Amino acid sequence: MPTTAVASFLVLATSLVAGSPAGAGLRREAICKNSLYPSGHHINWTCPEQKTLYIDKGLYTPKNILVSRVQIFGCRAYILTPRFLCGVPFTLGTLNMNGPCKAEPLLSPFPNWESHEASNANSKGNKNIINAVDVFIDRKKIMWILDVGITETLDKPKVIGHPKVLAICIQTSKIVAVVDLSKLCTPNSRFHELQVEVTEEDDTYIYVSDAGCKAIVVYDYSRDKGFKVQLPPEVADDCTSAKDILYLTLMNNTVIYFSFMNGKKMYKTETTNLRCPKTLSEYEEVGTKPGKLVILGSDRKTKMFFRTKGENQIFLWDTCQPFKSSSFVTVDSPPAGMFSTHVVNGFMQFAWALSSDFPDFANGNRGAVGPRAKLHPIYQLEPAEQCEEKPTTCPSCRPKSPNQTPCPCPCPSSCPCISEHDNGGLS
Ligand SMILES: *[C@@H]1O[C@H](CO)[C@@H](O)[C@H](O)[C@H]1NC(C)=O
Ligand SMILES: *[C@@H]1O[C@H](CO)[C@@H](O)[C@H](O)[C@H]1NC(C)=O
Repeated sequence: MPTTAVASFLVLATSLVAGSPAGAGLRREAICKNSLYPSGHHINWTCPEQKTLYIDKGLYTPKNILVSRVQIFGCRAYILTPRFLCGVPFTLGTLNMNGPCKAEPLLSPFPNWESHEASNANSKGNKNIINAVDVFIDRKKIMWILDVGITETLDKPKVIGHPKVLAICIQTSKIVAVVDLSKLCTPNSRFHELQVEVTEEDDTYIYVSDAGCKAIVVYDYSRDKGFKVQLPPEVADDCTSAKDILYLTLMNNTVIYFSFMNGKKMYKTETTNLRCPKTLSEYEEVGTKPGKLVILGSDRKTKMFFRTKGENQIFLWDTCQPFKSSSFVTVDSPPAGMFSTHVVNGFMQFAWALSSDFPDFANGNRGAVGPRAKLHPIYQLEPAEQCEEKPTTCPSCRPKSPNQTPCPCPCPSSCPCISEHDNGGLS
């Protein structure tokens, strides 16, 4: 089995910058009123006995739980707690952003407790979530999870299952598809980032960055075929560090921006250039970076968020502007000692940052209580996005035979499943 080293976005900060300048736009009250503090201490157990059982079996150590990545849909945040260490009971959880207690929001496993049982991975046909390191909700509201299949990545890595991508229907809370990435994974692979495009034609393309192979792994989900697009030598040469990270950011559902954290340049390519196995030849150099950048995320349209490695100030860049310092706008930052690991849009028309003191965590300074984390608004986005209590319609697909893997909902045209919206007809 190929090994995929992880520890990924846990980029160690080399210097801590104290304090943060006043945020651009957002008032302190708006930030304080809306911030949430997710933590491994506030878990929605099914009963007290379950908690005791998990502690006794060594499956629950709250100070080993660090939130790292997030997606927001309606009033809910879906948060990753990767298995960096032992004692992480689940690696994808959800919390209500509208709940009564923002200081201690209850984190529930998503889609359910059973899907996170790491020990049973093989007996369950590798369908369980072993260690989710990235998450992306696509345009059709399907949640996709990048699962590296290896646990305790910061301590003594254990290979439990294959690297894979799982799709979860948010409305039904069902795992609806599993894409095995083992054929696209080599011993050098380091999978970090996941982006998913649903085209105008309703085709679904999954993009996974592989810094180790200096490639973008592409999975054409609608046609069920995967391949690698190798970065050209000029781009690959921008990666000089063995443990570098390749960031991928899908903008406007048509363009992927990509850059190595330690690299000097930012590049972009139309996603249509990523449709077959090859060495990428059509791409554009966007500009020279002001330093080593941690790309945090985007509003999915034109705004990208990033910070300088080792510093906590968050910057916004509108991709319609030239990529240079005079175009970079400072937005709010997490408190001193905390660094953002992801910025996403959603709930109350804000861009939200998920921040934590992860450098301390990674260095083994977990104290008695473990890491601090904060999910906080950093920027007001314009177009109204209503807080929906219920996800929009998300028809599920039933496999024609029990042995068949279901497709993500809504069914792609090539899906050999029965769409529940089609009166039982084939879709
Ligand atoms: C806790 O989990 C149960 C299901 O096990 C769910 O019905 C309930 O809404 C959850 N509570 C919170 C606060 O998320
Ligand atoms: C965004 O995508 C649409 C097609 O979906 C295209 O017409 C438009 O030019 C794109 N905008 C930018 C800023 O790339």
